[in-house]
Amino acid sequence: MNTPKRCLLIVEDDVGLQKQLRWSFENHDVVVAGDRASALEQLERHAPAVVLQDLGLPPDAAGTSEGFATIAELLERAPYTKIIVVTGNGDRDNAVKAIGSGAFDFCSKPLDLEVLRLIVDRAFRVHELEAENRKLRSQSSVALEGIIGHSQPMREACRLVEKVGPTNASVMLLGETGTGKELFARALHRLSARRDGPFVAINCAAIPEPLLEAELFGYEKGAYTGAHRQTRGKIELAGGGTLLLDEIGDMPPALQSKLLRFLQERVIERIGGRETIPVDVRIVCATHQDLPALIRAGRFREDLFYRVSEVSIRLPPLRDRTGDAVLLARHFLEQAAARHGRAVRGFSAKALKAIEAYPWPGNVRELENTVNSAVIMAEGKQIGPDDLHLGASGGEEVLDLRQVRSEAEKRAIQRAMTKVGSNLSRVADLLGVSRPTLYDLLEKYGLKKPADAE
Ligand SMILES: Nc1ncnc2c1ncn2[C@@H]1O[C@H](COP(=O)(O)OP(=O)(O)OP(=O)(O)O)[C@@H](O)[C@H]1O
Ligand SMILES: [Mg+2]
Repeated sequence: MNTPKRCLLIVEDDVGLQKQLRWSFENHDVVVAGDRASALEQLERHAPAVVLQDLGLPPDAAGTSEGFATIAELLERAPYTKIIVVTGNGDRDNAVKAIGSGAFDFCSKPLDLEVLRLIVDRAFRVHELEAENRKLRSQSSVALEGIIGHSQPMREACRLVEKVGPTNASVMLLGETGTGKELFARALHRLSARRDGPFVAINCAAIPEPLLEAELFGYEKGAYTGAHRQTRGKIELAGGGTLLLDEIGDMPPALQSKLLRFLQERVIERIGGRETIPVDVRIVCATHQDLPALIRAGRFREDLFYRVSEVSIRLPPLRDRTGDAVLLARHFLEQAAARHGRAVRGFSAKALKAIEAYPWPGNVRELENTVNSAVIMAEGKQIGPDDLHLGASGGEEVLDLRQVRSEAEKRAIQRAMTKVGSNLSRVADLLGVSRPTLYDLLEKYGLKKPADAE
């Protein structure tokens, strides 16, 4: 492959020197300019990575004002350009001034061409590295936007996501409740060529079996009582995009077979319909369950398992992500303070210790909820350990009965959510309360409902 030549702009009013320099850099794509206006024109036209610039330009060929004005304008329009300034012999002051105003390096007259070539070469290399760096950073930061974490296991998970995101492979996201499975599923979608297509999520645990089939595959008008009009299912709605099958471990066996058939044939039939409809969709699944154990127990089809987990990504529990809890806490604090208009600025040192020490069974969601309520409840500008209500780690024993009760209540709800994931009916069952009561309690304690819960 032919790599394009490196483009070098030479801004020099002395025609003789222009020629000499052009000749010295003949393996480059050299463009020249004799004054500020034509330098800017060449910049627009050729976008050179490196500029070699004389300070004495007309109309101030004897001074440096025009040279500095040119540097300023070049950098204003193309801030990543590397400018190498050519100064008069021993003119240290202007060399320093040039670097101070953003030039990359300098070289003094009379020019030692060998040295100059080295400087120019280095400028190109730095420019290329910086450009590559910017590209990498923008790619990952856009796609993995909002995913916070610097711990080793999180970095590995992110790297895997970046690798498989752009492919069509089916991905299984494994992790306890609240570890960010949905967040990662969305990142996979954003990294793929399907990013402009739909992202559709369905929670297999939250919907009873007969409804789940209709939700997934859709139905024709009159397919059953109540089917008043033709309705497309989630699979079809995700066409051209990504379908997240959340809590796939809870999918009833009959539907597992039907889903497998879809994955083999890539066509669906709506319930009560005859037509086969081809659907191009990428499947991402999530579960907090141990699928191999479900397979052994005969509750999950092994062939389906292999179809939907070409790549598995395990999201570690928060307690295994050293240092991340504090990072996330700060992030959620800023968000919550802005959302609720509270002037809470940060955590006390003791609160940060408590956050680090607590095992976070409900993972990131529990942390988010905890920080959210703390921001709402906190009296001062700083969140202390008591505002977090993390039990033992929080200083003095609490005897106020109302507080003891509400803390116990809140903890029970969080535990229940940890146990059965985002299925709010089951959470309510487990707690022995009605769904509306559960909603009130979630509201009262500032607990966030799982994103895809009904
Ligand atoms: N690494 C992270 N950085 C920032 N926010 C996160 C991170 N991980 C999770 N969250 C946030 O925590 C909450 C829970 O995440 P998410 O819904 O993706 O978890 P989940 O694994 O799907 O949970 P569940 O099993 O309960 O469905 C969301 O509000 C999400 O935005
Ligand atoms: Mg989820």
